[in-house]
Amino acid sequence: MTTKRIVVIPGDGIGPEITAAARPILTAAANKSGLDLEFVTCLAGGAAIDKYGEPLPQETLVAAKAADAVLLGAVGGPKWDGVAPEIRPEKALLGIRKALGLYANLRPVKVSAALTAYSPLKPEIVTGTDILIVRELTGGMYFGPKCESETIEGTERAWDTEVYSVPEVARIVRVACRAAKGRRGKITSVDKANVLASSRLWRRVATATAREEGLDIGHLYVDNCAMQLVLSPKSFDVVVTGNLFGDILSDEAAVITGSIGLLPSASLGDGTGLYEPIHGSAPDIAGQGIANPVGTILSAAMLLRHSLGAEEAAAAIEQAVEAVLAAGHRTADLYRPGMTKVSTEEMTKLILKKLQ
Ligand code: IPM
Ligand code: MG
Repeated sequence: MTTKRIVVIPGDGIGPEITAAARPILTAAANKSGLDLEFVTCLAGGAAIDKYGEPLPQETLVAAKAADAVLLGAVGGPKWDGVAPEIRPEKALLGIRKALGLYANLRPVKVSAALTAYSPLKPEIVTGTDILIVRELTGGMYFGPKCESETIEGTERAWDTEVYSVPEVARIVRVACRAAKGRRGKITSVDKANVLASSRLWRRVATATAREEGLDIGHLYVDNCAMQLVLSPKSFDVVVTGNLFGDILSDEAAVITGSIGLLPSASLGDGTGLYEPIHGSAPDIAGQGIANPVGTILSAAMLLRHSLGAEEAAAAIEQAVEAVLAAGHRTADLYRPGMTKVSTEEMTKLILKKLQ
């Protein structure tokens, strides 16, 4: 068997529980595809601040760069609210994305047939929703020049800058176009071109890149897109957008599936890929064994697909998750009378059993 090395960054809050849940499932699925996995655990986020006084230790970065893939739980929590801005736990995430060149963030938003009743939207609106959000992850406002505080004529202010270059837009739109070709072929670019100069460049480059890829691209202003996502989520196939808009729209899209706890993500560049659920560290329920591991387990499926080329193993995990949900097993976030309430560990065992 070929051995692949996976760096696991459990992080903070429920991170250690959900990554521990995903590991045996990842191993079992990989083994079936003839791959052996070696896991290396590394610290980042609040856990690293506590131990080393910094959120992203060099050794974590070195290990991540050398790995075949990285599986991350979540970082952050109220415990570190008071630390200096430059060492906030979130800096670990931004730092690792930038250092690994992970410019393409894929966030699939699929409403499971078993869970349509859990959506805040009416079943007839949400049934069949299947969107892929492609978020630019290493540019825009997150990484533009910024100032935490300056005083001009006695008035304190702070600022961030939205910057996008032609190659940055072209490469993310290309990723989105290629994904669209394997789906329904529809691609929507989201910007704020009626106001922002950076968005006008974005729109121009998106149109040209899509044409090169042989696709027609639609454009929506971000405010309109936010509205259309709840009015008619089924009208979207692939959505491509910048870092900040993608952050906001992906939370909105995620919650219409019923629980943000279900959604995985892949962050890809030219080297090692990073996989993490899109929810946060949920410090309020950490350590209780009740967190929903599905977002992380589905992230493990994306890892197999995108970093290890094990499509069959990825699909097997996705089918196992769907089957367990269809059978009525629910973690606390999705529990309703009539269903079977399960812990993080029980959910994991059920999915593992379906897989074997
Ligand atoms: C996400 C998160 C992060 C982001 C935070 C934790 C820095 O919200 O991955 O969506 O804003 O990118
Ligand atoms: Mg977010």
